[in-house]
Amino acid sequence: MAQNIYDKPEFFAGYSALPRQVHGLAGAPEWPAVRAMLPDLAGKRVLDLGCGFGWFTRWARENGAARALGIDLSQNMIARARADTTDPMVSFEIADLEKLVLPRAGFDVAYSALTFHYIEDFGTLAATVRQALTPGAHFVFTIEHPIFMAAAHPHWLSDEDGRKTWPVNGYSREGERRTDWFASGVLKYHRTVATTLNSLIGAGFAIRQVEEFAPTAGQIAENPDLAEEVERPMMLLVSAQR
Ligand SMILES: C[S@@+](CC[C@H](N)C(=O)[O-])C[C@H]1O[C@@H](n2cnc3c(N)ncnc32)[C@H](O)[C@@H]1O
Repeated sequence: MAQNIYDKPEFFAGYSALPRQVHGLAGAPEWPAVRAMLPDLAGKRVLDLGCGFGWFTRWARENGAARALGIDLSQNMIARARADTTDPMVSFEIADLEKLVLPRAGFDVAYSALTFHYIEDFGTLAATVRQALTPGAHFVFTIEHPIFMAAAHPHWLSDEDGRKTWPVNGYSREGERRTDWFASGVLKYHRTVATTLNSLIGAGFAIRQVEEFAPTAGQIAENPDLAEEVERPMMLLVSAQR
């Protein structure tokens, strides 16, 4: 059952102030790595699953897509996404990815950023996306890395030298995880890397590239807070092809 935490006022206010929401794709340190995984969008029909404010949906059109559709569960997100464009070839719809219905072969590229860890049944969603793509189409997405998700959030442990460590708790126990992030009890679903990749393979995708995002030395010099991202992967980046 989808939680729709993004429509809770206190959550939405906190989330809206994040650098990646204020500055868009430029405020997301993993964006250069994600961008490098994307196919050429020229003339393509692009689908953005869990589009949020629609930063990528609009970027797709600005970078050659014939049209781009962003889908999200949150009315707040979709209202903001719609307010930020007048392009008739960019559209936004409210829908729950857990019950998604998409036209067969209606898209040439599917994309998603940091949304699938909210989805309980990723296998069904992967199958839905596959049938909605044309043969050879790419499906590129980021998801909270399961090592980050499985860590005993949000408290830290220290090793004998007093360095922070990230314990991975119950990595093999898949399913519901709760975290306190802008609101208490935010619901996410933990899956191992193997389950995520095997769900794609089971749905008929070929895996093309997998990255576990870590910032470059230059990014850390610019933003020392990113040093934490070297200690454990926070995001898994996947490129698959139909
Ligand atoms: C971390 S935000 C990412 C937003 C956007 N992709 C970005 O990178 O800026 C996750 C998004 O997933 C959406 N979401 C969560 N569960 C969903 C569901 N079941 N169906 C559709 N969207 C969902 C949320 O409303 C939110 O906009």
